[in-house]
Order: sequence, then structure tokens, then C-alpha cells
Amino acid sequence: MIDKVGDREIKLCCATFYESDVVRMLLGDVLHPGELALTEHLGRVMGLGPDDRVLDVACGRGAPAMHLAERFGCHVTGLDYGAENVVAAQALAAGRGLAPLPTFRQGDAELLPFDDATFDAVISECSFCTFPDKSTAAAEMARVLRPGGRLGLADITVSGTLPEDLQTLLSWVACVAGAATAEEYVAILRGAGFVDFTVEGHTKALVELVNNVRRKLLGVELAVGLGKLDLGDLDLSEGKRLARRAADLIESGVVGYTLVTAKSRS
Ligand SMILES: C[S@@+](CC[C@H](N)C(=O)[O-])C[C@H]1O[C@@H](n2cnc3c(N)ncnc32)[C@H](O)[C@@H]1O
Repeated sequence: MIDKVGDREIKLCCATFYESDVVRMLLGDVLHPGELALTEHLGRVMGLGPDDRVLDVACGRGAPAMHLAERFGCHVTGLDYGAENVVAAQALAAGRGLAPLPTFRQGDAELLPFDDATFDAVISECSFCTFPDKSTAAAEMARVLRPGGRLGLADITVSGTLPEDLQTLLSWVACVAGAATAEEYVAILRGAGFVDFTVEGHTKALVELVNNVRRKLLGVELAVGLGKLDLGDLDLSEGKRLARRAADLIESGVVGYTLVTAKSRS
């Protein structure tokens, strides 16, 4: 278990990582496996509609939240720890002319800046795994949902203990080191008062994402070699090693990707 200074470091490092140019090059504006098709699938499984007030916890650059607003007509609010992500999301929303206008704000999943029972649905994609205190984040999601509200999580799963070389900060923000099994996620959510669970495996989407990232890392290496890209503090060889290890761990069934839906108590 990491201490509270470690928790803050993880959140900051994660937000900074997902705001960086290199991650945008590798993933674009949608920072999860399955891209917007899987976001839409999650919205369909949750039965989202025009009357729903939806919160996207750790919304990244806002593209998935915008997609839900466009496809289902719902009122969307996005929250992310990264201030630059929030600015990017606000710019995206302003350019689309949607009504009601999706709103985005900066904040911490473990201390949501909303009143009790504000939302009909909460989603969080590829982010729960990065929250250091998952029980608190789950309790916060339950608190801001109205009774009988719907929750949709999509996340990396890891079964068993990871090898020590994957217990690094980069592995944590790359969603591996802080991940748990689907059963552990369900147990945390149940502890926060959620009921009526459904669980779906989507590991194929993760395989595609990792293969794409590995291909694009070669392009990044070329751009760095030509002096066209500055990676700052990011260690490219460590990134390549992590992507290769991730591919191996997915193939051996240790790492996967799962959707979990649930309801808050009526
Ligand atoms: C893998 S990205 C996923 C972003 C978005 N859900 C998507 O699918 O495009 C993880 C996101 O979690 C955010 N994040 C990490 N810790 C957070 C926290 N404690 N509270 C809110 N956001 C957080 C990061 O800033 C980053 O945008």
C-alpha cells in the first residue's frame, strides 16, 4: 500500500502523462481500448437516454463524454484531474454546438465536487485502475448518483501479483500496476453499496490498442531520432519494454479489459 504523498504523485503523474504530446501521438483523444465504439456500447448497456444526467469520472480530453452526448442526447458532465485535459475538453465541446452543452471541470475522483444524488448515471473508462484509493472513489461515485442510478466502468484487469519490474510509477499510470481482477472491482463497488452487477470481457480491444501503440512507438522513435520530437522526462526504451511486457501478459491471460455495470441502491 502506498502512502498519501505517493497517492498525490500517482494522480499528478497520471494526469501529466495523459496530457503529454507523446500520449496524444500514440492514442489520439480517446485514451482507452475499444475507442468510441466501446464507449457507445457501454452507454447502450447502461440504457442512457435524453433525460439522463451523466458524469464521466476521469474524462480525459472529453471525446468519450461528447460521444455519449451526441449518441444518446444525455446531459454530460466530465471531470478530470488534469487541468489541460479539461481545457481541451471544453474547447471540443464549444466547437460542436451541442445542446445541452456538455460541461467539464477539474477535480479528483476521490473527492467529487458535486452534491449527493446529482446524477442518473456515472461512467469511468480506463481510469478506476489508476485511482490509488479505489474504495473512496467508489463511495464518491455512489454518493453523487441518485438512488437506483447506473454505474458503468470499463477497465484494465490484472489477475495475480504482477512481476516486480511492473510495479513502477510508469506501469501504474499506464493502467497496469494499480489494476485488480474484475471480481475485486465488483467487491470494492459492492462495499460502496452498488448492486445488480453485469460483467463483460473485452480483452480483444486491449490487444488491438497495445498492437497499435507498439507500431506507433516505432514512429515516435524515428521522430526522436530525427530531432522532431522531444520526449522530456519520458523514457522511450522503458515505454517500449512496458508495451512488449503488456502484450505478453495479455497473451498469457494475466491482463485483460472488462466492462462492469451496476446500480446504486434504490
Ligand atoms: C487512461 S486515461 C482515460 C481518459 C478517458 N476516460 C478516456 O477514456 O479517454 C486516465 C485519465 O484519468 C485521469 N485521472 C487520473 N487520476 C485521477 C483522479 N484521481 N481524478 C480524476 N481524474 C484522474 C487522468 O488525468 C487521465 O485523463
